[in-house]
Amino acid sequence: MQFPEYRGRRLRKNENFRRLVRETRLSVNELVYPLFAVPGRDVKKPIASMPGQFQMSLEHLAKEAREAHALGIPALLLFGIPAKKDEQGTGAFAKDGIVQQAVKRIRNEVPDMLVITDVCLCEYTSHGHCGIIEKGEVQNDATLEVLAETALSQVKAGADVVAPSAMMDGQIAAIREILDENALENIPIMAYSAKYASSFYGPFREAAESAPQFGDRKAYQMDPANSDEAIREISLDVNEGADIIMVKPALPYLDIICRARQEFDLPLAAYNVSGEYSMIKAAAKLGWIDEEKAMLESVTAIKRAGADILITYWAKDLAKALAK
Ligand code: PBG
Repeated sequence: MQFPEYRGRRLRKNENFRRLVRETRLSVNELVYPLFAVPGRDVKKPIASMPGQFQMSLEHLAKEAREAHALGIPALLLFGIPAKKDEQGTGAFAKDGIVQQAVKRIRNEVPDMLVITDVCLCEYTSHGHCGIIEKGEVQNDATLEVLAETALSQVKAGADVVAPSAMMDGQIAAIREILDENALENIPIMAYSAKYASSFYGPFREAAESAPQFGDRKAYQMDPANSDEAIREISLDVNEGADIIMVKPALPYLDIICRARQEFDLPLAAYNVSGEYSMIKAAAKLGWIDEEKAMLESVTAIKRAGADILITYWAKDLAKALAK
């Protein structure tokens, strides 16, 4: 086909044509909404670097979960900020830990909502790293046990899915094993398989109060320059028992999402992270960009690249925009 027989503009003429031939369609069905749980009563503290997002105590979380459910959002991803942090991150697997309480509360009040829990230690450790520190370094194998205990305690509290994000080698196998030993073989694992050491997590670290107190996360999260390594990381997770794989961040890593889609047949999640959200919020606030259009274009691009599941702070706004 060539011009003038082919004219691409014929099917772009108006919105009805465009709707008919659109290749990528968004829906509320693929959205996961991240939320931040904090102890206390009647806390709804705005996260300065993430306008529209809050740290919330249990009653506000439950309300937010109800609203998300009413909008048709199928799943939440929960993070917790404990009252006290320590060297070992013990708050992560405490029976009455903040995430465990949040899961129970949401489970009770909004039973029909999927609750996914982030399995990591950085929100719970005083040093802010994702694992146990010895001799100034995050110890891989010692951390695996703690991650496994954390996942188990979250599932015992009622989590439907666990999502390990610490980037420790062997974490999926360790979690699969402890769940299976406890007759929880039907609980799926959503693995943050290709998680990069990204500057786009900046706002989240304010939200979760989880910035590392020394050094950075480059000794465990992936080098942004690598693509083949992402495929190796995902393969390992698939072999260890991941049910859903993830690429994170999303927008600067669309090539990785696209490759993962081609090379694996498991459901693929993409995390549209805090920095991707905050950049657009900030530009919109300055009047430099149209927030709704930029949001829709961003998530369309992530889906077009091949993601099945979209984890995004815009989940509610998207659900409303899609219902219009
Ligand atoms: C925990 C974790 C992080 C994010 C999700 N889980 C932060 C990090 O690794 O530093 C980032 C999410 C976001 O930026 O929206 N390890």
